[in-house]
Formats: sequence, structure tokens, C-alpha cells
Amino acid sequence: MMSEMYVNGKKIEMPFFDTLPSTNAFLKEKCKNGAPNLYPVVADNQSSGRGRLGRSFHSEIGGLYMSFLLREFGSADMMGITAAAGVSVAEAIEKIYGVSCGIKWVNDLIYNGKKVCGILAEGVISDDGIINGVVVGIGVNITEPTAGFPDEIKDIAGAITDRYSLEKRNELIKAILERFDRNHASSDLIEKYRGRSTVIGKDVRVITPNEAYNAKAIEIDDTFGLVIMTEDGKRKTLRSGEISIRTK
Ligand code: BTN
Repeated sequence: MMSEMYVNGKKIEMPFFDTLPSTNAFLKEKCKNGAPNLYPVVADNQSSGRGRLGRSFHSEIGGLYMSFLLREFGSADMMGITAAAGVSVAEAIEKIYGVSCGIKWVNDLIYNGKKVCGILAEGVISDDGIINGVVVGIGVNITEPTAGFPDEIKDIAGAITDRYSLEKRNELIKAILERFDRNHASSDLIEKYRGRSTVIGKDVRVITPNEAYNAKAIEIDDTFGLVIMTEDGKRKTLRSGEISIRTK
């Protein structure tokens, strides 16, 4: 079904699907066919939802699964884009559902100690090797699946409410796009991001594709890098990878 909405005065056409393999995969194809800036796509569920670091993303009915396309981005700054998405989704959730989420670097949204939203930004490379779009994919666990989260994620995944309505989900979509449109180019984004960070001062485990090690999270630098101190006293700035917070 095709719908339209106004985002900060701009008319946006938006396809809604009952199901898709992945809204990110769908939109990457659309990007090659000339879809415009902020063009979104939404599915009620996904059969092959994609997560960061090659993982899958559990996408049953009861959540929000959306992607939107960015055509206008300064320097292909993925960290800034994903940080803007994290802040925008947190602000939109607060507006529509009245709950306040923290952000675990880079962009996992945390509510009551559990991950309630994941974000995957992917560049779309044209045939001549230029990035001509960025697809920003957002998965929010609005409610818990009726049979609960699968065993592999049940200790870390949470939901923001216990009542799912399509009307509110659609209000959330509009609020996310409006917030992102403003936050993305805004000079106060970094302070908003730091204000929601759940990691500063915490003992963390750093996980990269090649290694995993313990460290302390010190601060978020001006380009959204995470400054850490390793156990042998070295200061480093992470620009990719993932962390988990150590509780003991
Ligand atoms: C993560 O936490 O690892 C990122 C998860 C991103 C999931 C969203 S759901 C909508 C969009 N389509 C996908 O296939 N993935 C993203």
C-alpha cells in the first residue's frame, strides 16, 4: 500500500508492506532506480531482517521495521548518520510512547537495561564506485513477541510498551523522519548524543571482527568516536565495532 505524509512541510510518498525480506535490501535496490532523499519503506515484519556485523535482526509483527534513503549527506559520514538516527529515534519514542531511552555506542537504544532498537546504515555504491545514497534501517521492538524473544536474544532484548497499535507505529515513523531531518545537520547533535550515552565511565568489552578485549569508556569525541582506555593504559578511539557493558 502506498501512503503519503508531510515531514517538516515536505510531501513524502511511502510504501507499506505486510512483509519483506528486509527493508534495507529493498531500499538499496530502489536507490539505484532514483528514489529521492528521505524516501522511506516500512514492513509489518521481515523474513530476513539484517543486523550489524552480519547478524540477523528478529523482525516479528509487533515492531517497527523501516528504512529511509539519504541522498544529501556531507562526507559520507556513517558515524554522524547513525548517531543522528539514534538520537532521532530516541526523541520520537519519547514523544509517542513517553519513555526515555539511552544510547549504547554506537546506536543501540536501551530501555530498562534492554536493547529496544537497532540501527543499520549501509552505503549504496553505484556502478562507477561512488556512494550515491545511504540506507538507514531502523528496527524498534515496540512490543515483545507473543511467544517471547528467541532464546539467543531474550536476555538482552526488550520492548518499549505492551500494547501495539498500527496508528501509534505510524505516528512513530513520522516523528522519526521529522527528528532525523532536523538533527542530521544540527550543531547540537553531539550534545544530544552525549546526553543519552549509557557507556561513559563504564567498564566495557570491545568486540571487533578481529579481536575482543576489556577497556573503560572515557568519552565520546566530537565525531562520535568512543574514546577508551585499555587495561594496559593505552588511550584509543573506536570508530567501528561494538561494545558491551561489563557488569562485573
Ligand atoms: C542491529 O542492531 O544490529 C541493527 C539492526 C537493524 C534492523 C533494521 S529493521 C529495518 C531494517 N531492515 C533490515 O534488514 N535491517 C534494518
